[in-house]
Amino acid sequence: MRKKVIAGNWKMNKTPAETTVFINELSKVTAGKNNCDIIACVPFVDIQNAVAAAKGTNIKIGAQNVHFEKSGAFTGEISADMLLDLGVEYVIIGHSERRQYFGETDDTVNLRVKAALSAGLIVILCIGELLAQREDGITSEILSMQTKKALKGLTKDQMKNVIIAYEPVWAIGTGKTATAEQANEACLIVRDAVAEIFDKETAENTIIQYGGSMNAKNAAELLAMENVDGGLIGGASLKSADFGIIVDAAQ
Ligand code: PGA
Repeated sequence: MRKKVIAGNWKMNKTPAETTVFINELSKVTAGKNNCDIIACVPFVDIQNAVAAAKGTNIKIGAQNVHFEKSGAFTGEISADMLLDLGVEYVIIGHSERRQYFGETDDTVNLRVKAALSAGLIVILCIGELLAQREDGITSEILSMQTKKALKGLTKDQMKNVIIAYEPVWAIGTGKTATAEQANEACLIVRDAVAEIFDKETAENTIIQYGGSMNAKNAAELLAMENVDGGLIGGASLKSADFGIIVDAAQ
């Protein structure tokens, strides 16, 4: 049985002061709900406050990106060691917004995944097809390719620290959710790709989340699907009551 993982992706929202208030509020909502892992992936500058406020609660803190080098002349970048030092446990890598607006490629995603894992972080690897790719009937090919490229060179053992988030790009922030069947089917494609690279057992143990307009209303149906092991939630993670309902649905 795979444990469900519910992760919030705050994107570029909330100041450090707002973070403290929000995590305090959220921890009341999530208290005692220990049948799933609960993560808040916050902006870099909010990390210290988030870690402090989450101490002693069941909320774990993640970052939204990490650089692939250990240190050096990379202005504006943050290393895995810096994140670990602050108490970060998770990091989102390869989000479609990074791919779309910040030049992230399958190759740099792979480098970041390896750097994060070597440092001891748990990776939330994002993949997903564009609307045009779905309409062209190449969703399966795109998902397999992205999965294989991102996980290139990893060991089976390292896969224990990799969560994959299937996020159809057309569903992110659009209010257009994949149907439960579409989400399940895509997560299975990803699981099959993991089995091809590693083996069936590794694939069966890999947590594969759905992300893309998951909210308090549709979470239960999506999370009930066999291959959907959790959610990566943007908009609805910024409201504690809504996030709490999604966490409830994962219980
Ligand atoms: P959304 O974002 O829930 O606002 O669609 C999901 C994500 O980008 O991870």
